[in-house]
Amino acid sequence: MATPEIDLTVYPDECDAYGHLNQASFVALFERARWEVLARGPGMDFFTRRGVWPAVRKSVVEYLAQAYPGDVLRFSQLLVHVGRTSFTIRQMARRQRDDLLVATAELVFVCVDQRGTPVPVPSELPNVFGDRPLPGNLRRVAVNGVNLAVLAKGQGPAILFVHGYPLDHSIWEHQVAHLDGWTRIAPDLRGMGQSDAPDLGYSMQTYAEDLLALLTAMGVDKVVLCGLSMGGYVAFEMLRRARERVRGLILMDTRAEADTPEGKKARDAAAQQAREGGADAIAGAMLPKMLATAPAPGQPELRQKLQRMMAATPMAGILSALSALKERPDSHPLLPTLTGIPTLVVVGEDDQITPVAGARTMAAAIPGAQLRVVPGAGHLTPLEQPDVTTRAVADFLATLPRAE
Ligand code: MLT
Repeated sequence: MATPEIDLTVYPDECDAYGHLNQASFVALFERARWEVLARGPGMDFFTRRGVWPAVRKSVVEYLAQAYPGDVLRFSQLLVHVGRTSFTIRQMARRQRDDLLVATAELVFVCVDQRGTPVPVPSELPNVFGDRPLPGNLRRVAVNGVNLAVLAKGQGPAILFVHGYPLDHSIWEHQVAHLDGWTRIAPDLRGMGQSDAPDLGYSMQTYAEDLLALLTAMGVDKVVLCGLSMGGYVAFEMLRRARERVRGLILMDTRAEADTPEGKKARDAAAQQAREGGADAIAGAMLPKMLATAPAPGQPELRQKLQRMMAATPMAGILSALSALKERPDSHPLLPTLTGIPTLVVVGEDDQITPVAGARTMAAAIPGAQLRVVPGAGHLTPLEQPDVTTRAVADFLATLPRAE
């Protein structure tokens, strides 16, 4: 069932001395919209009938544009995560006349009974607030209490593509489309893209466990792992946990070292920036570092696509990823132990985040690893040079022993 959108008009008594919708009134309108969804659906007593009360544990509201008396705001609401006793709803308020996004809210609720004891989330809740329709050919796979959005295509031995931060599966579109003869699996990590974004601190271990569980859920035993940047850090964690499931490794625009003390401070600063300026601010700060400095054909569209992708990342996903990045371990000790796992290291010639020198050192430390430096690419080789990257991956896959 699709959750209804709710139109609410801004009244003068909700505005401040300058005539803008006041922030407290905004919060009230978000709440009114949620009640309206219940009123128009299962009834306002949906929760009380079940002896459950949803208490707000956390709310993050981003104010993106002003609203004035007479404006009609259209509120949409999505259930983005359901845990055992908690759930998260993301809401958006757009100005009806021109679809301008005016504000977003993300609220975490804990279900409690009359004594305040946490109780399970009513199982009917997804019917009330609707399941997000997934775009394109994505499907949902439930693992470790979260729904991951997954793009899967083709048949044959499997290759798992793991994206970086704060990105999603679509950076692998070209590779997923063209690597015939392989089952191409490209999930959105929890907290990014269309996957659930539970409001809990995650670590590289969390992402790795999700992906191992995803492979199991999809009936895949062994894979070739291909991770970009943070996806590479996740790949290292998967190797530490389940090396026997990895039959080949592609490390793209990534590095083995942990964050330096300065790097950790930069993560804290980014988290502060995210809290103050929202996902838009993170996108604005990251974009200039991501692409090759010499503009390639199609770069303006690519910049727009990236900006949209990063700015759509839920706050819980951004903050949790920053903490996972900051706490990730040094993977150098792992590298010489990867004997027997065919490895390809790929790096954009102009990668400012994980430069060529580091990729060279990493490749030298992995027994038998090949290095491929891609001209005309920065930190996002598969997007900036899709043909060359897909060809490099295909050539590498062709060298692997046949799957047993
Ligand atoms: C990424 O692209 O995943 C991040 O830039 C990785 C990082 O910041 O270390």
